[in-house]
Amino acid sequence: MRKQIAAANWKMNCTYQQAESLLADVLNNQVSLKKNQQVIFAVPYPYLIMANSEVAEEENYFVAAQNCYTRKSGAYTGEVSAEMLQSIGIRHCVIGHSERREYFNEDNNMLAEKVNICLEYEITPIFCCGESLAIRDAGTQNDHVEIQLKESLSHLSEVDIQRVVIAYEPIWAIGTGKTASTAQAQEMHAHLRAVLTKKYGSLVSDNISILYGGSVKAGNAAELFSCPDVDGGLVGGASLIAADFISIIKGLK
Ligand code: 13P
Repeated sequence: MRKQIAAANWKMNCTYQQAESLLADVLNNQVSLKKNQQVIFAVPYPYLIMANSEVAEEENYFVAAQNCYTRKSGAYTGEVSAEMLQSIGIRHCVIGHSERREYFNEDNNMLAEKVNICLEYEITPIFCCGESLAIRDAGTQNDHVEIQLKESLSHLSEVDIQRVVIAYEPIWAIGTGKTASTAQAQEMHAHLRAVLTKKYGSLVSDNISILYGGSVKAGNAAELFSCPDVDGGLVGGASLIAADFISIIKGLK
């Protein structure tokens, strides 16, 4: 059975002290998760070790990095490798967030390499895809995300694709307060699953979690997550407010 996941993407927010108290506020609430549910905190690099030790005793709670580099090691000043993440016990990493695609020129081919290196080091990539407003207005969003998936993931084996979590994040909904409607989210998630089914068959595609991201809030999470092909969310702004993120976790199926 595929996992239902509430993933917090803190982005470049919080001091160390704020990070500690935000995490404590969420964890102290002790939301008990069902077997098929997970909570993941994608935190800035300097907080990974602290956060990972905070969740160590909590079943189904994990910590993710927000990025890693394509290479194993070497003269790449300022970069962080998947091997480094593995060596501190990190088992998840966000890959290809639209902010990285836009501000750091990450393209589909580079992201394929990042997915590969994560899998090599036993790290689950949370692979992000999604279209801009111009693409949505032109009505070509399905083709756009299909190409993103094909160019970054379609080289993976049947076994490896099931080690990936996909996050659909329409760029026009990120940080804008504009959420995709449940119909828009379900339609795209069903399309993504159909693309996966075409290549890998339905036994495989049924097993892959596809998260929705883009202005997920306490007030809309449960409705979005109730869509049959929406398996939880990747949450930015609302994950920085403990009470809101707790409500979002409670909205998981
Ligand atoms: P918001 O929830 O702030 O719209 O951000 C979504 C996002 O980018 C999560 O990765």
